[in-house]
Amino acid sequence: MLPFPHLSHHIDQLTEIIADQGYAVVPEFFPASFIAALRQEALALQEAGKLQRATIGRAESSKLDNKIRGDLIHWLDHAQPSSTQQDFSNSMEALRESFNRHLFLGLFELENHFAIYPPGAVYNKHLDQFRGNEERQISCILYLNEDWKEEYGGQLRLYLNGKEAEPYIDISPTGGTLVVFLSGRFWHEVLPAIQPRISLTGWFRKRGSTLP
Ligand code: OGA
Ligand code: MN
Repeated sequence: MLPFPHLSHHIDQLTEIIADQGYAVVPEFFPASFIAALRQEALALQEAGKLQRATIGRAESSKLDNKIRGDLIHWLDHAQPSSTQQDFSNSMEALRESFNRHLFLGLFELENHFAIYPPGAVYNKHLDQFRGNEERQISCILYLNEDWKEEYGGQLRLYLNGKEAEPYIDISPTGGTLVVFLSGRFWHEVLPAIQPRISLTGWFRKRGSTLP
């Protein structure tokens, strides 16, 4: 049983768009009340000091650099999910099954973190696959912001032709919007915002890979 009405319709649509163009932007993927519950969890974790500065690169050689990446993150603990997180997991599990059925990607696991970008923070142009490591197959970013306005900035800039500067699309981090793209194909960056910017980001991974 899926936790939300319309979810199976969203999932079918999303799978079709990914098969067609490799990326998809779906507004109102989840109901506003559920987005608010996830946002409260992210803010409570921040309040409790449980967010950490995100690093760049692989675990063994990772480093901190505010000019490249300025967000604060918290990895979800699958062993102790809240009921909100459980609903999220069940939904993403249905998405994983749909991708495996139609796209033959052999996805077996989702890793997820909350991310809060303080005002001015960026994440420079990058690819979500580390060099020589293809374990991350599909990137999923769910925005948790309430009443986000265009003029706040904070867009996700998604480059559509490899590393080329153009063409690109800019996506505002409006609460409820889910962005999905093939991790190995799409370069992207996060532009600075004048408000804190909250998201729940995840990657579907291939079997036989080790944690980063
Ligand atoms: C990431 C990322 C984009 C966003 O965390 O790797 O690119 O819009 N996030 O938050
Ligand atoms: Mn990324």
